[in-house]
Amino acid sequence: MSQVNVYPPSAEFVERANVSGMEAYKALYKRAAEKPEEFWGELAKEKISWMEPFSHVFEWEPPFAKWFVGGKTNACFNCVDRHVLAGHGEKVALLFEGEPGDTRKVTYSELLADISRFANGLLKLGVKTGDRAIIYMPMIPEAVVAMLACARLGVTHSVVFGGFSSEALKARIQDLGAKLVITADGGWRRGKEIKLKPAVDEALNDCPTVESVVVCARTKGSVEMVHGRDHWWHAVEAGQSENCPAVPLDSEHPLFVLYTSGTTGKPKGILHTTAGYLLQAAMTMEWVFDLKADDIYWCTADIGWVTGHSYIVYGPMSRGATQIIYEGAPDTPGFDRWWKIVAHFKATVFYTSPTAIRALIRQGNQWPEAHDLSSLRLLGSVGEPINPAAWEWYYNVIGKGRCPIVDTWWQTETGTILIAPMPGAVPLKPGSGTLPMPGVMADVVDLDGNSVGANQEGYLIVRRPWPSMVRTIWGDPQRFQDQYWSRLPGNYFTGDAARRDEDGYFWVLGRVDDVLNVSGHRLSTMEVESALVRHPAVAEAAVVGKPHEITGQSVCCFVTLKKGDFDHEALGKELRQWVGHEIGAFARPEEIRFSDALPKTRSGKIMRRLLRELVTNNTVAGDVTTLEDLSVITKLAAQHDDEA
Ligand code: WTA
Repeated sequence: MSQVNVYPPSAEFVERANVSGMEAYKALYKRAAEKPEEFWGELAKEKISWMEPFSHVFEWEPPFAKWFVGGKTNACFNCVDRHVLAGHGEKVALLFEGEPGDTRKVTYSELLADISRFANGLLKLGVKTGDRAIIYMPMIPEAVVAMLACARLGVTHSVVFGGFSSEALKARIQDLGAKLVITADGGWRRGKEIKLKPAVDEALNDCPTVESVVVCARTKGSVEMVHGRDHWWHAVEAGQSENCPAVPLDSEHPLFVLYTSGTTGKPKGILHTTAGYLLQAAMTMEWVFDLKADDIYWCTADIGWVTGHSYIVYGPMSRGATQIIYEGAPDTPGFDRWWKIVAHFKATVFYTSPTAIRALIRQGNQWPEAHDLSSLRLLGSVGEPINPAAWEWYYNVIGKGRCPIVDTWWQTETGTILIAPMPGAVPLKPGSGTLPMPGVMADVVDLDGNSVGANQEGYLIVRRPWPSMVRTIWGDPQRFQDQYWSRLPGNYFTGDAARRDEDGYFWVLGRVDDVLNVSGHRLSTMEVESALVRHPAVAEAAVVGKPHEITGQSVCCFVTLKKGDFDHEALGKELRQWVGHEIGAFARPEEIRFSDALPKTRSGKIMRRLLRELVTNNTVAGDVTTLEDLSVITKLAAQHDDEA
């Protein structure tokens, strides 16, 4: 691996860093490994405000973990009240910019007042601790207020990304048994109003548990309101007191459920609880983002994904950060929108995805070069492996060779970053997440659980529970056990392949299961397949990921049709729309290929491996001994040559 460039931190960065030098990192790692109870127990006392102290640090009955057992706290109190009480009420929490160019500044005191009024309004609607709420909103400050108001009352929230369709929204509302939906008329994206309320209305035809809908007026577009069920946000909070005590909640109180794609057609409700999640979100802000009191932090994620939960809401806010929130698209009105925002607000820390970086590279260096990016001191990447070429561009063109890049590996299930460099300690290698966080016993193993040697590929696992670990799958503990804990009992199975190099650095290679990663968003092949076979013309479908220059992977579908005369071109278009309607626009397939049959094993399983190979290399060289009908593959390959 001698051709890999290594980037040690500059002396200047090390000097100011929260963790300075490799020895400091190693000492933290060693202490957490040897004395986890002391390590996490002390941090929990220092970083979290407790309403009642915990009696012990953790309990572990695989696969179920409890952290900070017996303690009572409140995530919203820790994200807002704690800072106001410490005298930082005038500090800006949110620097908001809407896509049309409107801006708002919200201080921690103002945020506390907004959250309290809104939470009191929710109480008046009859919402209670233990209820569940769905949040389906654009990236506006009210989305943060909604999440934190729920947390304040002990209402478990589940944010559904605004790009999901009403069908996907409905499935989530039903699975969660939500009583409340918080939404908006719509949001702005690429100069257009993206409506949200109509999708809620459509979903609610079939969701008897929902009693109330709260609608924030963002775009002021036309909205239908159902009498007795729907309430405007401003009416809900009008006249409410700014005093709403944060409810003391058990450390293990369910903070949120976030649905993510698994290997079946049904999304998994990943449950995160309160204290352990909050602590590790806070610590990774210090360790990975090296957060300082005067930072202007910006994570470009949407709150609909876990990155928005941990690194917009709970991480930065629990540390009292000032952060930028932007509503719209990076290319509106021009490809320099992000760089304009960085220059305008003087952002110091910037966290985004490799897909976004690759898309911006393609537009040329003139866009970032037109802006003063000298405020930046640290860059981050998340969601998928970052290829070294994109890394180097990010480092040189955006960071001007001054800013370390933290490549952060984690998952919805892990809650917070598990593998990433501490930027003032760990020398960087482009494309590697480098080393695990303290307390994270990550390893690369074979199917017997034995560690593989340096530079060997294997399965990425975690050997011990960590505070922000997924607690269960909502309503399905058996699936939780099967999915993550049964392959190597007692160890958490990530579903990712990885290797460790001779320095112990982790290189994550991608998924080992039928999960796609499109633009850093997880999508299950089964979910797309189930959507396709719900279409009346489709008999069978197999979906695979195809390598894509910008989005990492794209969705490629092989479809066999029922009997009939079909115009393939028109039907291809229709099926793409159909998947958009069933799941969401971001899941729309790039390619639909029609075929008379799909390659199967003798037992009838579709051989996706072959299809993957076919879309990647245009031929199949792999082992086909179990293939039922070899001619199927030959036909599929030939058909592609015809079309090309
Ligand atoms: C992938 C997003 C390589 C990985 C936070 C993981 C990454 C899945 C990285 C989780 C990274 C995420 N390098 N791969 N830095 N970050 N992944 O749940 O396959 O949306 O399992 O969480 O994204 O996606 P999720």
